[in-house]
Amino acid sequence: MMMDDVERVLFTPEEIEKKVAELGRRITEDYDGEDVVVVGVLKGAAVFTTDLVRKINLPVQLDFIVASSYGNGATTSGTVKIKKDLDTDIKGRNVLICEDIIDTGTTMANLLKMLRTREPKSLRLCAILSKPSRRIDEVKIDYCGWEVPDEFLVGYGLDYSERYRNMPAIGILKRSVYEK
Ligand code: IMP
Ligand code: MG
Repeated sequence: MMMDDVERVLFTPEEIEKKVAELGRRITEDYDGEDVVVVGVLKGAAVFTTDLVRKINLPVQLDFIVASSYGNGATTSGTVKIKKDLDTDIKGRNVLICEDIIDTGTTMANLLKMLRTREPKSLRLCAILSKPSRRIDEVKIDYCGWEVPDEFLVGYGLDYSERYRNMPAIGILKRSVYEK
């Protein structure tokens, strides 16, 4: 069973549900009736994004992007490779990026930089998790679920080798799983 590979549960499904509802409420209030394009970053944020949009009481357009970073932490000119681009023209639109976890920040810093060139009306970031101690590239998280320690986490979209994404809780993966 998936949970047998978990050292410790950090967030239960109930805690996650409450947090997502709270984030949705804040987003709903802040955008004050305006339209928003919610962009989930695949695959990690797929689970979070689909839960979050159902807690946002605004006219929402849902889109997804697949990005991978060739960032070099030592430079600020890292580039991002778009494997699947948006279907939406975001020029003049309110865009809310939805991510599972901000770790070094490299992928997101580059993705935000690229999206800004498309001249959205606004561009904000929502992440359910953040590991501040790992940050290399600074990223402003407008809506952050929880700050977490530098441990390898799985569940609620987060994977190890494409597994555990469907685990309803978020937990620390046992070292024995990846050190064998
Ligand atoms: P970074 O911020 O550019 O370092 O990359 C963040 C990405 O790394 C996230 O979107 C996740 O896909 C992945 N990631 C970072 N930390 C973890 C973790 O603890 N478990 C699973 N995936 C992680
Ligand atoms: Mg990811």
